[in-house]
Amino acid sequence: MTSTSDEPTRLWGGRFAGGPSQPMADLSRSVHFDFRLAPYDIDQTRAHVGVLSRAGILDDRECGVLQDALTELKADIVAGRVGPDPQDEDVHTAVERLLIERVGELGGRVRAGRSRNDQVATDFRLYLRDRARAIASAVIELQQALLDQAHQHVDVISPGFTHLQHAQPVSLGHELAKHVHALARDLERLSDWDVRAARSPLGAGALAGSSLSLDPVAVAEDLGFSVPLANSIDAVSDRDWVAEFLFVAAMLGVHLSRIGEEVILMTSREFGWAVLDDAWSTGSSIMPQKKNPDVAELARGKAGRLIGNLTGLLATLKGLPFAYNRDLQEDKEPVFDTVEQLLLVLPAMTGMIATLRFDAGRMTASAPEGFALATDIAEWLVRQGVPFRQAHEIAGACVRAAEDHGIELWDLSDHQFSEISAHLGPDVRSVLSARGSVDSRASYAGTAPARVREQLADLAGLLDQERRTWSAG
Ligand code: ARG
Repeated sequence: MTSTSDEPTRLWGGRFAGGPSQPMADLSRSVHFDFRLAPYDIDQTRAHVGVLSRAGILDDRECGVLQDALTELKADIVAGRVGPDPQDEDVHTAVERLLIERVGELGGRVRAGRSRNDQVATDFRLYLRDRARAIASAVIELQQALLDQAHQHVDVISPGFTHLQHAQPVSLGHELAKHVHALARDLERLSDWDVRAARSPLGAGALAGSSLSLDPVAVAEDLGFSVPLANSIDAVSDRDWVAEFLFVAAMLGVHLSRIGEEVILMTSREFGWAVLDDAWSTGSSIMPQKKNPDVAELARGKAGRLIGNLTGLLATLKGLPFAYNRDLQEDKEPVFDTVEQLLLVLPAMTGMIATLRFDAGRMTASAPEGFALATDIAEWLVRQGVPFRQAHEIAGACVRAAEDHGIELWDLSDHQFSEISAHLGPDVRSVLSARGSVDSRASYAGTAPARVREQLADLAGLLDQERRTWSAG
């Protein structure tokens, strides 16, 4: 025989002869993780009290008493002066109990016209829209750190890679700025998401709406939503907007992971392109010489976790029939985790990037190595009127000759060049420098420093725009 849990506060029970068994209560309970929704639950309760009073269900005095009590309760919860009871089933139960402790039975009138189904969906939207703003601000800080480093390193020529093999030299500023663009798209996605997250489920009740003449439009507006959701069943049953948030977050995590991976490579002894600041690295417990890129590695590791949170929720949602199902209680922990992880990793990434010291000399020296100027020879030949197909062959023959002699392209003599092809006059040397190569790629979005400077100016404007967007909400 399992015992019955001790005298919990429950928002249901009238039709039950006895309370739930302890394991049932333990399984059901979510207050230990969902109490963080309490400030949002109180905000929506305040809005709901307003609607109940306008519908004549609460009089002015009752409304005033409740509003004051809710304001004080929120302040006490935020300051940690009051909290959940381990016996509370969930955040809604806890908030109702705390309210009744302050205003007596009047607190029990607030539930009219509302169910935990529309309540939890509303709290969760309020929470996530708020946290999205915190995440966006942290992303903008990281973008700024990347942009500052890009500005300082426009004229540093670095090896550009494809397949992790030397491909063509690029401006380091160009390389760093690419991450600012990727993060900008993450914020764009978050803005798009916010349009859909800004619809209010409150008023949907359990699933079918309410017989009390409540005003879902007014309550939506009061809570900063744009409109109420138009179908009460849809309002309480779908979590596509949660999955969408988790995708945006996972994509952001993947971008952070790519940045992390590059920092890990660049700070390795083999690359030797950059040095981590002491404050943004860790040592080894056994090897005294070690300075490890743990921020970058944790960023790379967290991406897996964020992807897992997305796929886990999608699996939870798949096949849920009709309206609310209790499976939906499983939607919160992965989201709380994703939000927490991002808010941990983003400031650390910003600090690491802002303090990274690049070794410009080493990068510049290795930029043209590995025959990275072979394309420049081919394009020089094209400018001399040679068809590209033939130019590619000739440049390839230059690489083969240099490789055979164990030298770089610019070490080939005039004689060796002319033996490879009559088209290869001594003037070909004009393109055999990394700087010349980079300067020549002046197409739109290309790596020529003049173009990169324009790009960075545009990005500075974009960051200003992002700051306006995310502080306005
Ligand atoms: N804790 C629940 C959740 O997160 C609240 C809604 C409960 N609704 C219900 N019908 N039991 O989904």
